[in-house]
Amino acid sequence: MLMLLVFGALLHEVSLSGQDGAVPETHRAPGKPLFDYASFRLHQEHIPRFLHNNRHIATLCKKDAHCPLKEHLENLNYCWGYEKSCQPEFRFGYPVCSLGWMDSVEAAQDLFWKQADFGFVRERLEEVRVLCRPESTSDSSLMCSRYLQYCRATNLYLDFRSIKRDKERFREDFFRKGEIGGHCELDSHLLLSEGQRKSPLQSWFAELRTYTQLNFRPIEDGKCDIVIEKPTYFMKLDAGINMYHHFCDFVNLYITQHVNNSFSTDVYIVMWDTSSSGYRDLFSEAWKAFTDYDVIHLKTYDSKRVCFQDAVFSLLPRMQYGLFYNTPLISGCQHTGLFRAFSQHLLHRLHIRQEGPQDGKLRVTILSRSTGYRKILNQDQRKPQGARSQVSGGKRVCSCLREQPPEGLAAQRGCGWVVPDELAPVPRSLNV
Ligand SMILES: *[C@@H]1O[C@H](CO)[C@@H](O)[C@H](O)[C@H]1NC(C)=O
Repeated sequence: MLMLLVFGALLHEVSLSGQDGAVPETHRAPGKPLFDYASFRLHQEHIPRFLHNNRHIATLCKKDAHCPLKEHLENLNYCWGYEKSCQPEFRFGYPVCSLGWMDSVEAAQDLFWKQADFGFVRERLEEVRVLCRPESTSDSSLMCSRYLQYCRATNLYLDFRSIKRDKERFREDFFRKGEIGGHCELDSHLLLSEGQRKSPLQSWFAELRTYTQLNFRPIEDGKCDIVIEKPTYFMKLDAGINMYHHFCDFVNLYITQHVNNSFSTDVYIVMWDTSSSGYRDLFSEAWKAFTDYDVIHLKTYDSKRVCFQDAVFSLLPRMQYGLFYNTPLISGCQHTGLFRAFSQHLLHRLHIRQEGPQDGKLRVTILSRSTGYRKILNQDQRKPQGARSQVSGGKRVCSCLREQPPEGLAAQRGCGWVVPDELAPVPRSLNV
């Protein structure tokens, strides 16, 4: 709201002094841009999509001679694909499929798009329903997608004064009735009907089951020891020592940001952990793509009543039909824009320069594991010929460059693996 007011004020000022660009730029007082556009920190390809979904910023940019995003204003039709206003030809990407299990290529593309591409965001958005309805602007609210996999809450009240902690990371009876809730009209029937997928890393049902319609306005009535104004993401995290699992966390946070249409790093991330243990995180650098602050452990708030003005419960890392833990995918399709966007976003925000592979080259890196499970069974057959192969940390990592295109693989030079006649599918265990 405040944001809108600020924008309103800025727009007003611009239209008075800018006169729709009639004044040449050189005649304008040397000034700063009207908005900190750089704070978006988005990948080039993502900026027009961001502007598509944030028209007020696009409008501001149009009127602002110092806006560095002007070139993108011509591409405001570009979109991700899940928006109602998105025309198919302008979406970020679309899967490529061959005829497989489905009747038609189109049906396969549509299914794959919903399973593993931005269609997944569309499906979650369509599911969102209001569970606790505010009656005035100072009220609380709660809305969620099905099975409470994604939720957004405003003026949320959490009472940590009598909680108990043990070793259990995801205790299901952590908050009793009255200890979590808000001032709004709760549809408890609807809330309680979303419990079919209750499970620590699949749903927020256990946490929100006891959400209570309060007879006080937590913030206004001074019932909070701490008020958190900064937008906050709650997350239940999978194993932080395992790249595969932990990236399920990051991907789902990224997808959540699409569902909520907000990519700011000026947000808190609170890890919902009902134990008092710490969390081992071997990939903590990756958080910098999402927040300017350290990840906050839920126990930080113990013994206090804490109110969050704006909270989002993030999509979870092991949801059934979620991404990308145990994701069932139809065969015969490739190219997901969602994952391309995720990796672009991460590399961009973490300032990781990708120096290769160059166009037309393919680099394959294999992390060889020696655990009892999740081993690449046919790794010996896949020894690259002439590949750069190096030993790192006791594990063998092979990487190589190979010429495209995939047709006529026999003609491949460099480190073509010995593959019979087609690129063998990537072994499942590579993902784990
Ligand atoms: C979710 O989106 C709303 C609306 O744009 C925004 O005000 C809020 O800060 C976002 N929440 C988070 C946690 O980013």
